[in-house]
Amino acid sequence: MYDLSCADVTKSFGNFTAVRNVSLDIPSGSFFSILGPSGCGKTTLMRMIAGFETPTSGDIRIKGDSVLTLPPNKRNVKMVFQHLALFPMMTVGENIAYGLRCRGESKSDIGPKVARVLDRVGLPGSEDKQIDQLSGGQKQRIAIARCMVLEPDVLLLDEPLGALDLKLREHMKIELKQLQHQFETTFLYITHDQSEALVMSDNVAVMNAGRFEQIGSPKALYDDPSSGFVAGFVGDSNVLSGTLTEVRGDEAQVMLDGGGLILGRVCDASKAGDKVEVFLRPESLRLGAGAEGTMMAGKVESLLFNGASSRVLIRVDDQLIEVADPEQSSSLVKGADAQVRWSADRARIFARRSA
Ligand SMILES: Nc1ncnc2c1ncn2[C@@H]1O[C@H](COP(=O)(O)OP(=O)(O)O)[C@@H](O)[C@H]1O
Ligand SMILES: [Mg+2]
Repeated sequence: MYDLSCADVTKSFGNFTAVRNVSLDIPSGSFFSILGPSGCGKTTLMRMIAGFETPTSGDIRIKGDSVLTLPPNKRNVKMVFQHLALFPMMTVGENIAYGLRCRGESKSDIGPKVARVLDRVGLPGSEDKQIDQLSGGQKQRIAIARCMVLEPDVLLLDEPLGALDLKLREHMKIELKQLQHQFETTFLYITHDQSEALVMSDNVAVMNAGRFEQIGSPKALYDDPSSGFVAGFVGDSNVLSGTLTEVRGDEAQVMLDGGGLILGRVCDASKAGDKVEVFLRPESLRLGAGAEGTMMAGKVESLLFNGASSRVLIRVDDQLIEVADPEQSSSLVKGADAQVRWSADRARIFARRSA
């Protein structure tokens, strides 16, 4: 049983298609993210789910029932917007009670419900506070409490952390995940920030130009991207352009545009002669001598110390290669010769992305 399903949903504006054949199924109580660059169609998809836009084709189901004919207020979903949209002239308690009052619930029911939801978001007893007395993080929690008090089947969050500064965003990522867990309600979260999606989600759909490129757990997307777009969008990678010259079983050879032959693994339908890109994660690289085809010689350009996330930049021809090799970083000298090596199966080869 899914809390939310989309089946082949498409939305066109005139002859522009913003969302193309999108399908998803979100199991009850899970945290699902849609991750994609600005303009790829995330908000349009969410607005269709909430009922503010009508799909050109396809179906949307909440708890198994199609909602296409229902107006927004008859769908049991709630939406948290980027700018939260709290009412500044009302107290915290009035903000949270608003939806219950609109539903015509009695005063004697509303008070305890507001108190209970404030408790659950960690702000007990703050009914009488003014909105402008709250910190950014507290406003966020009130915005969520205001939706959750209505007990939606699905909470939709459209880049809700976008307006916060970096430090608070880092903190709110963890807090949002905990809140979702607390309420055991399905969250559909949209973002262009891959680290938000990876940290919080049970599953992520990576969206590009109106389509879903891949749906999977954060680990599956990171370890087994199905396209160059996903490999490039999820996590950090060094990307080398070249031409696929030979494929032998699991191993393939690429002639780099900058010269030199390297070995890797083809991860899509690319074949000999195709223009490709080779993706190398910094943590898949080591410094030191390696076999032909699985190493490149260069010079140490700089050491970027950042505790456990320290990196070395190695200049190979006109390209900088980022290496995360915890054992080597401390002993390197800027300008020294260095070799970057990898095991061929960690170099992922995909068709070159269109520019
Ligand atoms: N009402 C509309 N009319 C025409 N084009 C629209 C409309 N709404 C969105 N679009 C277009 O659809 C594309 C996707 O927009 P949007 O869903 O807001 O992307 P995202 O939320 O991923 O940044 C954009 O090119 C946008 O200009
Ligand atoms: Mg948007």
